[in-house]
Amino acid sequence: MARRDVLTIGHPALREPGRALRRDELATDDVQRLIDDLLETMRSANGAGLAATQVGEPVRIAVIEVKDNPRYPYKPDIPLTILVNPELTVLSNEQFESFEGCLSVPDLRGKVVRHAEIRVQAWDRNGERIEREVRGVSAGTFQHEVDHLDGTLFVDRVVDSRTLCTWEHFDTYHEEAVSAAARALVERWGS
Ligand code: NI
Repeated sequence: MARRDVLTIGHPALREPGRALRRDELATDDVQRLIDDLLETMRSANGAGLAATQVGEPVRIAVIEVKDNPRYPYKPDIPLTILVNPELTVLSNEQFESFEGCLSVPDLRGKVVRHAEIRVQAWDRNGERIEREVRGVSAGTFQHEVDHLDGTLFVDRVVDSRTLCTWEHFDTYHEEAVSAAARALVERWGS
């Protein structure tokens, strides 16, 4: 495994959609190594997720894992999930405000609107089908990562640019309210 450099906003590769992988490509050493690298890179940067496009690999793979995350202490845990060729389906009209950050957008956070109930269909790293319904705060994390595979960053979805803030000012001025809102979402949706 190796840690990869995470591309930051302005790099054109972040804007290139990833392409779908075939099962035989997924089984290759190169792609399996890429998945290991994504995991190591995400964990070492305390990310909640990481997409292959963020390390300059234009393929539809994203990894997600949340466990007592110091960058997002209010996020409920998500067990390690490897998504290959993920497809999201929106299950209801319910939406919520999500204050997001991104390893590719250093020191900036902002408020976006996410769907509260989605179905995730994908393959795991062995090409086995995954189908899962995800609700609440965790649903936002999945939408953020799949956005990366389409060349979309959270800043594209910020409705009011006045919500943009540094991490320092987030902690000082917004963390308390955002944590309370996240706790209410977890209470309602269970995640
Ligand atoms: Ni991101």
